[in-house]
Amino acid sequence: MIKIDNVTKVYNNLDKATEVVALSNVSMEIKSGEFVGIVGRSGCGKSTLLNIIGGLDKPTTGKVSFEDIIVSGLSECKSAEFRNNNIGFIFQAFYLDKYLTVLENITMPLLLRGVAKKDRNKLGLEILEKFGIQDKAKLFPNLLSGGEMQRVAIARALITNPKLILADEPTGNLDSSNGKIVINTLSELAKEGTTVILITHNVEDVKACDRVIGLEDGVIILDNHADEAEQQKEAVDENS
Ligand SMILES: Nc1ncnc2c1ncn2[C@@H]1O[C@H](COP(=O)(O)OP(=O)(O)OP(=O)(O)O)[C@@H](O)[C@H]1O
Ligand SMILES: [Mg+2]
Repeated sequence: MIKIDNVTKVYNNLDKATEVVALSNVSMEIKSGEFVGIVGRSGCGKSTLLNIIGGLDKPTTGKVSFEDIIVSGLSECKSAEFRNNNIGFIFQAFYLDKYLTVLENITMPLLLRGVAKKDRNKLGLEILEKFGIQDKAKLFPNLLSGGEMQRVAIARALITNPKLILADEPTGNLDSSNGKIVINTLSELAKEGTTVILITHNVEDVKACDRVIGLEDGVIILDNHADEAEQQKEAVDENS
């Protein structure tokens, strides 16, 4: 469903002195309904990879496709349309609109799809309740804690039932119980067929994934399916 073909991303590629190779010949395929974790040290290229999969950034070389759409070849305008139709993006830096209330922020993707206000607000309040922040609906983001902002950003990404969820450290600002709610929600969505790609530094989050990809200096150094890891473990147990 998602095919990443020999993707390399070089920042500042016009100036050798400052150029950064953020991704180097990354290839992988991700199936529908897979819950994929991406791990690796700060600066190893995780956000770069997510942004390229979501069409927010273009690879320097290589190709990314989603179903029959070549994401890496879309114009900026087509790319925004593609994201609005298919992707729920949870950004590391939230990107909430400070001039909109919590409810207006999370229902914005529905407004862009022409959903009526009454229906938008009903769905919006339901999802806020799921994450325990329904009492914040009318507030502006500057009055929220970091963890509350993070949950608003997650609610906004999930409200359209996207086919693909790209989540950049969605539990980074949450305590363990709120983190669990988020990971369980993503896990349930994956079981229902939504593809989820999750960047995380949290071991508990990784345990919930079907597959874990490790990056180091822009290169894939690990690609482990949970069932394979389980089989490998069983084989080791049997032989010992
Ligand atoms: N716009 C940019 N211009 C130049 N260099 C960049 C840019 N964005 C990222 N980089 C560099 O590319 C590399 C990969 O960055 P990226 O944001 O993908 O890392 P990351 O794995 O998400 O790190 P973190 O865990 O800290 O979020 C880093 O060395 C970073 O400094
Ligand atoms: Mg990052």
